[in-house]
Amino acid sequence: MRRRPWRRTFFVDLFLLLFVLLLVLFVLRVAFIGGDAEVRVKRSAELPLRFSSDGGFKILQVADMHYGNGLVTRCRDVLPSEAARCSDLNSTLFLKRMIEAEKPDLIAFTGDNIFGTSATDAAESLFKVFRPAMESRTPWAAILGNHDQESTMTREELMSFISLMDYSVSQANPSGFVVDGYGNYDIRVHGAWGSGLANTSVLNLYFLDSGDRAMVGGVRTYGWIRDSQLTWLHTISEELQSRYPAPALSFFHIPIPEVRDLWFRGFVGQFQEAVAFSSVKSGILQSLSSMGDVKAVFIGHDHLNDFCGKINGIWFCYGGGFGYHGYGRVGWPRRARVISAQLAKGKKAWMGVETIRTWKRLDDDKLTKINEQLLWSNDYLPSGTLYV
Ligand SMILES: *[C@@H]1O[C@H](CO)[C@@H](O)[C@H](O)[C@H]1NC(C)=O
Ligand SMILES: *[C@@H]1O[C@H](CO)[C@@H](O)[C@H](O)[C@H]1NC(C)=O
Repeated sequence: MRRRPWRRTFFVDLFLLLFVLLLVLFVLRVAFIGGDAEVRVKRSAELPLRFSSDGGFKILQVADMHYGNGLVTRCRDVLPSEAARCSDLNSTLFLKRMIEAEKPDLIAFTGDNIFGTSATDAAESLFKVFRPAMESRTPWAAILGNHDQESTMTREELMSFISLMDYSVSQANPSGFVVDGYGNYDIRVHGAWGSGLANTSVLNLYFLDSGDRAMVGGVRTYGWIRDSQLTWLHTISEELQSRYPAPALSFFHIPIPEVRDLWFRGFVGQFQEAVAFSSVKSGILQSLSSMGDVKAVFIGHDHLNDFCGKINGIWFCYGGGFGYHGYGRVGWPRRARVISAQLAKGKKAWMGVETIRTWKRLDDDKLTKINEQLLWSNDYLPSGTLYV
């Protein structure tokens, strides 16, 4: 065979050139761009959200992540033997494992996502909290608790920042309404592809800002849901129900006073600490009762309570403390709640929602599943049936 030296040099040169180019790109990226600061448009979740082809839609509730700065932020209330090797990264690891185990269609972060006083830079901490959701490309929605704004961002800034993050379906506020707070929005979940309800919302999710702290008559108390928010909620619920009678779920951070009475009336799960609510009684319970579509409300705030109880025909469920930098109870594992809605099977295609169930998982070796219960069913099954 005849050799063609010119060709070899050509390929060698080309290879060298490519190599140098890649090296320059790499150095540039490491030196000047670096991870999160990269400028690009938001990666959006596929909208509208919809039930999958197996007729299910699953929500993972993450209550009270209480994130600080990551590796350097220590865990609270863990065994002395665990303390040295425990940080915010354990909360991240738990979230990753939950996503892997449950493969949720939506993650709902119900406030105190960052623990403001421990978070040096709110933006940095927000990236750290939500990273597992973004990396797994899971649509996610967040609302604020009473601690989120204690770092370097106001509540308004936090919600607009959160709404711009990858795969976030969160919104600052509804357009066309003037409402108190930041983070009042609804999410519609459409029926399965190929069904007659493919273009119809068959499950509605209402997210509300329950505020942070307030001074009422010279006394410090927590925030509450204001009339302007209830007006919006009534309007949107009425509009949605006029199109299709979909069940709805609601999410906010601070419990309402009536949750305390469940101590005497019964609950599923554990009631281990006083319910911390605002001294101002909001009209939210009356609103939810008169709207009629909301079947369950998911709250956070009290990390040692993880129970569900029924008030005026509506379930109120705590998520149970998730994050390791939030207070907890030594030996009582951090936990997460899962909410699972299932469509009814028609002769040829999926129909509307038939059941809504919930359970929790503990952050132990097996992610032990506990307290599975039926929250609502479309008239076929007795409501409140327990599957433990
Ligand atoms: C935190 O994570 C580390 C590293 O994965 C692990 O060794 C440790 O057991 C975890 N601690 C707790 C309390 O889960
Ligand atoms: C839903 O909308 C799409 C696109 O507009 C349309 O092709 C489809 O027929 C609609 N399906 C139903 C059940 O209305």
